Amino acid sequence: MIEKTFAMVKPDGVQRGLVGKIVQRFEERGLKICGMKFMRIPKELAERHYEEHKGKSFYEPLLSYITSGPVVCMVLEGENAVAALRAMMGKTNPQDALPGTIRADFGQATGRNIVHGSDSSESAKREINLFFNDYEIQKYDKIDESWLFER
Ligand code: RTP
Ligand code: MG
Repeated sequence: MIEKTFAMVKPDGVQRGLVGKIVQRFEERGLKICGMKFMRIPKELAERHYEEHKGKSFYEPLLSYITSGPVVCMVLEGENAVAALRAMMGKTNPQDALPGTIRADFGQATGRNIVHGSDSSESAKREINLFFNDYEIQKYDKIDESWLFER
């Protein structure tokens, strides 16, 4: 099933100069970039984005971390894109993430785990709507599609 998901290079990924490498992985996998923007997340948006974690011990540090510097937000599209992105990211704690995943290859600590990806189709829809306006999400044909998929 072709679907969209929401991805983010978090402030540590930007500061560590990993934006290009991370975006390259998505492009090489064949995920289509439908939206992309560089922004500093306002506190209110961070609270809405991570509302499921409100009250947990890591909630306040998480808000500080995610608002501590600019991030790169993306809407990506592809076959089972939600699960595909989560698999590419690896486990939340980079120590548990498998080699070859972004978090294992570039990170060491849960609270500095470089990337975000929606954890379900419902989260993806919610997060895309939180971060992007309709006119910031592009519909277009990409020339590699007939080589990525059997159609
Ligand atoms: P994310 O939402 O950022 O993509 O990460 P995730 O789904 O893999 O993990 P989630 O459970 O949603 O947690 C959100 C972020 O909170 C921080 N965290 N710290 N200290 C802790 O136990 C802990 N647990 C989570 C991480 O930065 C995690 O990505
Ligand atoms: Mg999450």
